[in-house]
Amino acid sequence: MTRILVTGGAGFIGSNYVRLLLERSNDEIVNVDALTYAGNLENLSDVEDDPRYTFVRADIRDAAVMAQVFDEHRPEVVVHFAAESHVDRSVLDATAFVQTNVVGTQVLLDASRRVRVARFVHVSTDEVYGSLGPTGRFTEDSPLQPNSPYSASKTGSDLLVRAAHHTHGMDAVITRCSNNYGPYQFPEKLIPLMIANALEGRQLPVYGDGRNVRDWIHVEDHCLAVDAVRRLGRAGEVYNIGGDAERENIVVVRQILALCGGGEELIQFVTDRPGHDRRYAMDSTRIQQELGWRPTRTFEAGLEETFRWYVDHRAWWERVRSGAYQEYYQRNYAGR
Ligand code: NAD
Ligand code: TYD
Repeated sequence: MTRILVTGGAGFIGSNYVRLLLERSNDEIVNVDALTYAGNLENLSDVEDDPRYTFVRADIRDAAVMAQVFDEHRPEVVVHFAAESHVDRSVLDATAFVQTNVVGTQVLLDASRRVRVARFVHVSTDEVYGSLGPTGRFTEDSPLQPNSPYSASKTGSDLLVRAAHHTHGMDAVITRCSNNYGPYQFPEKLIPLMIANALEGRQLPVYGDGRNVRDWIHVEDHCLAVDAVRRLGRAGEVYNIGGDAERENIVVVRQILALCGGGEELIQFVTDRPGHDRRYAMDSTRIQQELGWRPTRTFEAGLEETFRWYVDHRAWWERVRSGAYQEYYQRNYAGR
């Protein structure tokens, strides 16, 4: 039994990770989350009564509060998901990205060092490597060349984790994963946005020529990879995680239309995202060879399963699309 402090456990990937740990381990979980627009306790309503699970509403930017939380719960391991995670929002305003992703990560590193956490797992992204041309894949040795305020802030946090290991001898590991999809993803990201819009008969806004490529991975495969790194990864190491499923955006959008029986007329090409990275693709050889992890789902099977989940959980996404979401949608899409 390990006492694991998970940050951002009320978000998309964090909630899937908390559920996976409760199902497959005997570990105790403390979920620390500020419940921003992206955090939703409904994502974990099925496990909230589990005696091995505790929720703490707290902001990782607040050093005094984090010191208290770490003193009270004395975690052995930290798995750090909490972040501002959406590129488009970082284009509109980068402030919260720097505060949560950079400052918040340093606050957690300091709190972890003070109570002698045995391992700090930092969940990062392929976007720190920048953009690829038509060929090649990112390895852990690819240069860090972030292009968006989001990816620049994630790169900043990766470097602070690296420094904590090198300067203070902290046992820290970094995971860098490609684009996730699956249940409980906030419908501002490509796949859930397109599914929800298609189900409502609304336009599907495709940026630019729609030929940007992402390497898609099901969230459960990502969570299994993070957990393999938590248990078995080498201290100070970086592990790339990819889905081996490169797809052009327009192909993904057409697959979603096929699943819901919608027509091509719903597709609307809109003004491109500024600085839009053209292509991401991950080389996950290291985690596959060292830790024996590999993705278990094909993209087509995972997408269909995810589509069904959104059909079956319409009340969930209708609720999160009400209120403040409308204001964001207006700001992001009105001028395109
Ligand atoms: P998300 O936006 O769905 O969830 C983020 C969570 O962090 C929310 O619950 C939110 O309330 C919480 N949070 C935000 N600011 C906080 C703060 N100051 N204090 C405490 N909690 C705060 O994000 P996600 O898609 O689940 O991503 C989780 C992590 O995985 C992020 O670090 C992201 O960079 C990384 N990642 C995401 C993807 C992806 O495709 N979604 C891919 C690779 C890596
Ligand atoms: P997104 O889900 O925002 O992830 P990221 O930018 O972190 O990769 O976007 C995935 C791809 O889909 C990206 O190339 C941008 C594109 N996209 C659209 O074409 N339209 C949209 O409305 C959104 C949200 C994304």
